[in-house]
Amino acid sequence: MTSSAGSDGRVYAAILAGGSGSRMGNPDKPKQFWMLGSRPVIVQTVEKFALVDDFDEVIVLAAAGWVKQTRDLMTRYLPSLAGKITVVTGGAERNDTIMCALRHIEQEHGIGPDDIIVTHDAVRPFVTNRIIVENIAAAREFGACDTVVPATDTIVHSVDGRLVESIPRRSEYYQGQTPQSFNAARLKEMLEGLGEDERAILTDACKAFALRGQKVALVRGDVTNMKLTYTSDMRIARAIVGDGGEDA
Ligand code: CTP
Repeated sequence: MTSSAGSDGRVYAAILAGGSGSRMGNPDKPKQFWMLGSRPVIVQTVEKFALVDDFDEVIVLAAAGWVKQTRDLMTRYLPSLAGKITVVTGGAERNDTIMCALRHIEQEHGIGPDDIIVTHDAVRPFVTNRIIVENIAAAREFGACDTVVPATDTIVHSVDGRLVESIPRRSEYYQGQTPQSFNAARLKEMLEGLGEDERAILTDACKAFALRGQKVALVRGDVTNMKLTYTSDMRIARAIVGDGGEDA
């Protein structure tokens, strides 16, 4: 694969599709394979990235047992972009899946000092071109970035779930989305450096960067860049695309 990024380093997308979607309540088929309008969710997400010229490779991390199905979907629905898309197996936890992407990059190309990896949930199909492009720029400038939207509801902090501990100033709080994007070498070093206990708690790579005192820039997300977690989310997503639904 040739690099279009030149001296700025290579740019990779890692589409995280290694989950089982247990909260969606359909054990037969993870939610990333459900139909949304005329095409599966995962196809719509991957297409958003494959259409951005900056990417040297779009790596799709599929759950074990779903790699062939995922490859077939890419060939069938995205034939003109398939040459840019690689499907490999993800890991047991979300961070393991990100590590699988980094190992793939290391084995196939080596990780250069300026390489960027844009990680994104396969189940956020409404990500926009602007969000992706701003992630690449912020990861280049700061080494790490998180996509967020300002909190709209008041945030209430409670330790025991019964009594209010505090009500922080809402204007200082945001809700995290994806993409989360990083200098690839620094992300690998950070994930490999997590101890067993930390791995259980630091499921969010940006949180791990921030806790280590490293800068994480904010990229403005969009309320439509929703994550499909519950069947109610799928109903909203289908309403957005004007679809009656097939799988739920
Ligand atoms: N993910 C992944 N590898 C894992 C776990 C999750 O790539 N081992 C991905 C999911 O496929 C999804 C994204 O991370 O695109 C966000 O995770 P979540 O919504 O929690 O997905 P699931 O783990 O599939 O859902 P659930 O927790 O309901 O089982």
